[in-house]
Amino acid sequence: NRKNLLDQLAHTHTLAFEDFIDLLAHQDEELQAYAAGLAVKTTQCYYGNKVFSRGLIEFTNICQNNCYYCGIRASNENVQRYRLSDEQILQCAATGYELGFRTFVLQGGEDPYYTDDRICHLVQQLKYKHPDCAITLSIGEKSPESYKRYRQAGAERYLLRHETATPAHYHKLHPPSMSAENRYGCLRTLKALGFQTGAGFMVGSPWQTSEDLARDLIFLHELQPEMVGIGPFIPAAGTPFAQQPAGTLDQTLFLLSLIRLLLPEVLLPATTALGTIDPRGREKGILAGANVVMPNLSPRNVRAKYQLYDNKICTGEEAAECIVCLTKRMKSVGRELAVDRGDNVRYMKMK
Ligand code: SAM
Ligand code: FES
Repeated sequence: NRKNLLDQLAHTHTLAFEDFIDLLAHQDEELQAYAAGLAVKTTQCYYGNKVFSRGLIEFTNICQNNCYYCGIRASNENVQRYRLSDEQILQCAATGYELGFRTFVLQGGEDPYYTDDRICHLVQQLKYKHPDCAITLSIGEKSPESYKRYRQAGAERYLLRHETATPAHYHKLHPPSMSAENRYGCLRTLKALGFQTGAGFMVGSPWQTSEDLARDLIFLHELQPEMVGIGPFIPAAGTPFAQQPAGTLDQTLFLLSLIRLLLPEVLLPATTALGTIDPRGREKGILAGANVVMPNLSPRNVRAKYQLYDNKICTGEEAAECIVCLTKRMKSVGRELAVDRGDNVRYMKMK
């Protein structure tokens, strides 16, 4: 019985590869609701009613890579490229700080302008101005030496989705210049350096199978990341995958629940992509076991240019409007939007 498998997952936090495949291949409404019930109970046991917010600063859409799915890939000529200055980034953070944010996520393409010196300088300035804030970087694959320098400069978290734990699938989503092994190696390095590390993947990316997703779950179990970012794949104009179908809401929600049961303490965002495929996607994500939202703090005039996929939400809003909106949305599902650092509880115990 598949509900028994979910009970087992909730108690032991793992399942056999075949059991994950079985669940993923046979999910229906009843099983999804059962998984969500267990997942929400687990979330509340560790984090109560709180949903954490992280201020996202999309500081450059210039990227040297050519991931087939990504709207800001190097060869997409329809993108108007931008790069925020240090002053603009500090201004976004200052505005965010006033709105209550205590975590800033600096995300961008792999932009060669941002040398290690520049990234470290930026992190140091942010830490100097806001010593009580956590700094998260999400700037792609770097060498172990670079990651070490970012850590020494004061960054304490790093988001790098593994994208898919199946190397053959990875190579269908990326050009030959990129390697799955390097991606996975980066994640192991980040963990070893003491970053609170975020892995993750897109749900419904082209050619993804239940077996691939089961491998993603086993990969997460092995890596034990502090954060996991998942959201539906959404096609982006001007990319090789522009005509591919998007991932579904139900599949994403079911995976959020499974990940919560697999990694009970994990920080799990209800992502912007989830809010893009369904007007109440983020609320539904919370009701499936997510406990983080990441509103955008980027200046309004650049937002529409960081278009990873089509029809991205919140491109016309100011940061303050997103906070009001999200506070209401969380309240509508009985949660309170929290503004503190929101460390993983495992990490807090270590300190
Ligand atoms: N360059 C950094 C990196 O590679 O980690 C950070 C930015 S990258 C755009 C952030 C994430 O966006 C990727 O890890 C990918 O999972 C997601 N993404 C890119 N294109 C997407 C699409 N078309 N639909 C949904 N998610 C997408
Ligand atoms: Fe940005 Fe709702 S979160 S408008």
